[in-house]
Amino acid sequence: MTSLLDASWPRTTERLTLRPITAADADDVWRIRCEPAVDEWTGGVLDRIDFDLRFVETDPPETVVVIHEGRLIGDLWLCVTNAWAQHPVRDEAQGVEAVLGWCFDPAVHGRGFATEAVTEGLHVLFDELGVRRVKAEAFADNLPSRRVMERVGMRHEGTGVADSLHRDRGWLDGVTYALLADEWRDRSHPSPDSHASV
Ligand SMILES: CC(C)(COP(=O)(O)OP(=O)(O)OC[C@H]1O[C@@H](n2cnc3c(N)ncnc32)[C@H](O)[C@@H]1OP(=O)(O)O)[C@@H](O)C(=O)NCCC(=O)NCCS
Repeated sequence: MTSLLDASWPRTTERLTLRPITAADADDVWRIRCEPAVDEWTGGVLDRIDFDLRFVETDPPETVVVIHEGRLIGDLWLCVTNAWAQHPVRDEAQGVEAVLGWCFDPAVHGRGFATEAVTEGLHVLFDELGVRRVKAEAFADNLPSRRVMERVGMRHEGTGVADSLHRDRGWLDGVTYALLADEWRDRSHPSPDSHASV
């Protein structure tokens, strides 16, 4: 299966550096994920041991840290997976999809860093790892995250009615956004300021 280690690292964008997580990053990423404004909308982690297992010690890594001016400000989760396929053609569907997620320090929200990093994540997934479809999911009420999806050009493909259980808010609608490799290559790359409708 294709993994993040098949891409070239570190990556640099106009303001950011991205690279796979190491054990030395764990405290910073954990702190950000524990911020109430972040923890509100993520899948959540049970405790630090669970966090380390799921985000730091994954082999190969699936978490990429985002650095701005020497400081870790967020992380992306890039998970290459298989597409659904009928049995006779299932080999063709191995490792051709990816799920993309993100968390950023509330101290840097509202500056376009997430959009800039996610755009680079799409570049890695499509242009270096060769996946054919990238999807992202969120609670429908998570409007900042949906705006990131729309700014990077992902398409709202569906809303599941009351399909996602939030620990405090109960059953909420969930949204799926996605982008195909052909669409990524056809479109001009978005700017962080490009229009988002939610
Ligand atoms: C989702 C999340 C990363 C979005 O953060 P964000 O700061 O809104 O997104 P960006 O970094 O791309 O910044 C974009 C915003 O900065 C503004 N901005 C200000 N200066 C800017 C600049 N120089 N360049 C670009 N955008 C700028 C944009 O207008 C935009 O504001 P808007 O969304 O109100 O229109 C953040 O809310 C978060 O970490 N949430 C918790 C975790 C989470 O929900 N993860 C996803 C689970 S599905």
